[in-house]
Amino acid sequence: MVQAPTPAPAQDVDVDRLLAADRAHLIHPLSHPNDHARPMVIVKGEGAEIIDAAGKRYFDALSGLWNVHVGHGRAELAQAAADQMATLAFNNNYVGFVNVPSTRLAEKLSQIAYPNLQAVYFTTGGAESNESAFKTARFYWKVQGQPNKVKIISRRWGYHGVTMAAASATGLPAYHRMFAPLMPNFIQAIGPYRFRCELEGEAGPRPCTSPSEHDYAAELEQTLLEQDPETVAAILGEPVQGAGGVIVPPADYWPKLRQIADRHNVLLIADEVITGFGRTGRWFALDHWNVQPDLMTFAKGITSAYLPLGGVMVSGQVQETINGAPADLKFMHAATYSGHAACCAVGLANVAIIEREGLVERAAKVGAWFQNLLRQQLEPLEPVGQVRGIGLMAAVELVDPAASGSAFYDNAASLAGRVVERCIQQGILPRRLNNTICLAPPLISTEAQLSRLVDVLGESIRAASA
Ligand SMILES: Cc1ncc(COP(=O)(O)O)c(C=O)c1O
Repeated sequence: MVQAPTPAPAQDVDVDRLLAADRAHLIHPLSHPNDHARPMVIVKGEGAEIIDAAGKRYFDALSGLWNVHVGHGRAELAQAAADQMATLAFNNNYVGFVNVPSTRLAEKLSQIAYPNLQAVYFTTGGAESNESAFKTARFYWKVQGQPNKVKIISRRWGYHGVTMAAASATGLPAYHRMFAPLMPNFIQAIGPYRFRCELEGEAGPRPCTSPSEHDYAAELEQTLLEQDPETVAAILGEPVQGAGGVIVPPADYWPKLRQIADRHNVLLIADEVITGFGRTGRWFALDHWNVQPDLMTFAKGITSAYLPLGGVMVSGQVQETINGAPADLKFMHAATYSGHAACCAVGLANVAIIEREGLVERAAKVGAWFQNLLRQQLEPLEPVGQVRGIGLMAAVELVDPAASGSAFYDNAASLAGRVVERCIQQGILPRRLNNTICLAPPLISTEAQLSRLVDVLGESIRAASA
């Protein structure tokens, strides 16, 4: 039996030495030294909390990076990894070989995902899953005799990862600026961001006066028509945009996108890297709107981050097309770690925990209560422009009521920074995206922990804006 890893006691970590080595040798994601002046040294995780080198506890209000669904320190997952590593950590899983956990996990996924999704190609993360989905969509159309269908239409405010094609599909300009040119054939349509109404044109972004009048799906269809559907492989979107600021679309949006995809003969790809595995109160989020995608990408919550794993699930029709390709035009897509045995074993054990502990149902029930509490306590505060979310993912968007145009939002970014600093001082760790504070607590969080989160956030907003 493997014990949950015990970190060195705080006094044994020479923090100053560690930080000197870190500055000298480690390039962190989204790196700039200004943002790394006082990094937090995290040495342990326990349930919904993480603990720093000085022993201070923080409620992990974003579950790491929206991914530690079952909470930290689960010895059962360490055990699943250790057992599989001791038995067979890895074997080539290319065509002609099978390992036990990857096939079992593929079968399990076909039972919990949308009924039309039948087969999975495994990856090691979200961006690689999206790359795989783009290539699968192109492959599908080429086998169907339509080699010109190559474009991917995604949405502004979408985030799909940082590899070149995934970054090209991402609709957040900060990820493009220093890496241009982006890849051709990736087009961004408008996103369903009702609060920051992009359709109001030259007056600059402002909350929509009557959001219901805007039909974001029709706007996307317009982009599709301008691009010529004969050249488009797929429409790509997160059911609820996460890194864009937890943007929940109108109820008719996804059913309309499904119809648009069918009407113009393009595939529909759901990026469920954040929304998958119970985060929104359903196993997968398009279920809220009774929509089934042709392809679905996932990562994060499949292992609750205990090991890296992701994938793309495909419909029976897409699978048949892959299987029906001529042998000399086979699916030449691969990665060393596709179907990694130890990662898949952890995935199986993690899905078993989610099922056994009823965490999807819990995210729905506790999530509804949490969303209400957030709205009740935070919406009355002056700098709070909007509270939004679904299940156990939420965002609090701060604004500057005295400003207009884009300053209405942008002025609130430094306020949001001060709010997060105050939260951290009080042992709560949310994530700030510009002027928006994002929350995605572990699915095992207690009502007491969530209620303290809302209290501390409210106090911090009041104090930081005073
Ligand atoms: C919706 C979505 N897609 C893709 C990705 C990229 O995943 P990864 O960082 O594992 O490449 C992310 C990461 O946050 C994401 O939120």
